[in-house]
Amino acid sequence: MSILVAGGAGYIGAHVVRLLRERGEEVIVVDDLSYGSPERVKGAAVIELDVASGEAPAVLTDLMERRGVTAVIHFAARKQVGESVTRPAWYYQQNVGGLANMMLAMEQARVDQMIFSSSAAVYGMPPVETVREDIDCRPINPYGETKLIGEWMMANAERAWGLRWAGLRYFNVAGAGWDDLGDMATLNLIPMVLDRLVRGETPKIFGTDYPTPDGTCIRDYIHVRDLATAHIAALDYLASGRPMEEHVFNVGTGKGASVREVVDKCITATGLDLVPEELDRRAGDPPQLIGDASRITRVLGWHAEYDLDDIVSSSFSAWQADPNRPHFGPRD
Ligand SMILES: NC(=O)c1ccc[n+]([C@@H]2O[C@H](COP(=O)([O-])OP(=O)(O)OC[C@H]3O[C@@H](n4cnc5c(N)ncnc54)[C@H](O)[C@@H]3O)[C@@H](O)[C@H]2O)c1
Repeated sequence: MSILVAGGAGYIGAHVVRLLRERGEEVIVVDDLSYGSPERVKGAAVIELDVASGEAPAVLTDLMERRGVTAVIHFAARKQVGESVTRPAWYYQQNVGGLANMMLAMEQARVDQMIFSSSAAVYGMPPVETVREDIDCRPINPYGETKLIGEWMMANAERAWGLRWAGLRYFNVAGAGWDDLGDMATLNLIPMVLDRLVRGETPKIFGTDYPTPDGTCIRDYIHVRDLATAHIAALDYLASGRPMEEHVFNVGTGKGASVREVVDKCITATGLDLVPEELDRRAGDPPQLIGDASRITRVLGWHAEYDLDDIVSSSFSAWQADPNRPHFGPRD
C-alpha cells in the first residue's frame, strides 16, 4: 500500500510527504521538478514526470498498479495568478490537463481516493466578511478557474465511478514546519518582505485605503504545518469509508491579519528598522479574504494550531537556514 503525491517535492507537498513518512507510510512522489527538489523528500521514491504530458496516463497507471497505490494527493500545478492571466491556455493544459491525466490513471488502476489542492482563489471577490464553502464561486483569473474546474472534475468522477475525494481550499499558506522546508519561491507576502529586507530595501504595501481598520488588505494566514495535518485528516477520512456529505473544505484559521500587521511582524523578526513604502492598490485584490473553517473542524476534526507569530518566526528561521538565500546579519 502506498500513497502517490503529485507535486510532492514542492513547498506544501514536501511537508505532507514528511508527515506521511513520519507515520510510516510508503510514499511515491511524482514531480517534474520544475519547482520542487528531491532533496526535500529524502526517503520517498521520486519519479520525474510532467503529469500534463501525453505519456502521463500510461506511466501513472503502471506506477499505481505496480506499487499498490491506494490514494493520490494532487499538488502538482502552476500557481502564479499573474502568469495564468498572460498564459491561460498553458495554465489549463497544466492544471486541468494534469489532473485529468491523473484521474484517467486512477480510474484505470482502480485507485479511488484523492485529495486535491484547491484554493481560496475559487471565491474571487466574495461580498462577505468570512467565506463559507457554499457561497457562489466566481474566480476572477484563470488560475482560480482551473481550481474550480478541478473540483467539478472530481465531483463528476464520483458520480461516474465512485471516486472518494476532498478538495482543500487553502487560504494564504506561509511559514515552515521544518527549517529545511521553507517556501523557496518569492511570490507570497512574507518571502517577498523578507527578500526586500535582506537587501536593505523597504518592504512595499499595495493599497492603504481599503475599507479595513488599518486600510490594508486582510488575509487568512495558515501555517503550512497546519495545512499538512489537514491533508492527513482528509486522507484518514477517505480511507475510513465513512459517507462523504461534504467534499470541499476551507483550510484557514477563520481569523484575518492585515498586510501592515504581517509586514510589521517581519520587520520585528529581522531586527531591522525600516518603514514600509505605501503604494497604490493592485488590480484584483479583494479587501478581505478570510475562510470560515467550521466545516473542516466539524467533519474532519481539524483546526489550526499555529498563529501568525509562529508563521513569521518559522519563515524567518527557515530563511536563515537556506543556503540559497542571502542572510540577515546577527541581531543585537
Ligand atoms: N502556496 C500557496 O499559498 C497556495 C495557496 C492555494 C493553493 N495552492 C496550491 O497548492 C499546490 C502546491 O503549491 P505549493 O505552494 O507547494 O507550490 P510549489 O510550486 O512549491 O509546488 C508544486 C509542485 O508541483 C510540481 N509541478 C508543477 N507542475 C507539474 C506538472 N505538470 N507535473 C509534475 N509536477 C508538477 C512542481 O515542480 C512543484 O514541486 C498547488 O496546486 C497550488 O496551486 C498553493
